[in-house]
Amino acid sequence: MQKTNIISFSFTEYANLEELESPDRDLVLSARAAALKAYAPYSKFRVGAAVRLESGRIVSGANVENAAFPSGICAERSALAYSVSNFPEDHPVAIAIAAFSGETLTKDQVSPCGSCRQVIAEEEMRIGKEIRLILSGSAKTLVIGSISSLLPLQFE
Ligand code: THU
Repeated sequence: MQKTNIISFSFTEYANLEELESPDRDLVLSARAAALKAYAPYSKFRVGAAVRLESGRIVSGANVENAAFPSGICAERSALAYSVSNFPEDHPVAIAIAAFSGETLTKDQVSPCGSCRQVIAEEEMRIGKEIRLILSGSAKTLVIGSISSLLPLQFE
């Protein structure tokens, strides 16, 4: 017997950064600051990710590109590799992502790529808790409760 299932998810959309709670707003500002430290000479697309840990500590990362393109790393994985390897017991509660195209903050939010989704999913699995995603562009900011919304039926 066959059955059709529907997977849907809800998220919150903010038109202005000022509407976010201040820890989330600070995390977005940290992600923007991190983006400015990216090494992206090939794409000129600078991405920053900032992770808030349970202690309140914020760690960030940026994309680091390479002449051998696949050797480059995205901002999200850069930030999570840092937090897991330096503060394994201080668990992430939220990750904010922001990007500049050239010198301009992107209008639309940047959403993590497939590999980053898988890595964020692994981190949720490792800590046994959900990690809020804050995807921020100049026009709007989306807040999503867990990566499982963006990676349904994930491999575990
Ligand atoms: N990139 C990220 O760092 N995070 C994303 O979520 C999307 C893409 C980077 C990879 C590459 O250095 C540049 O953005 C252009 O794709």
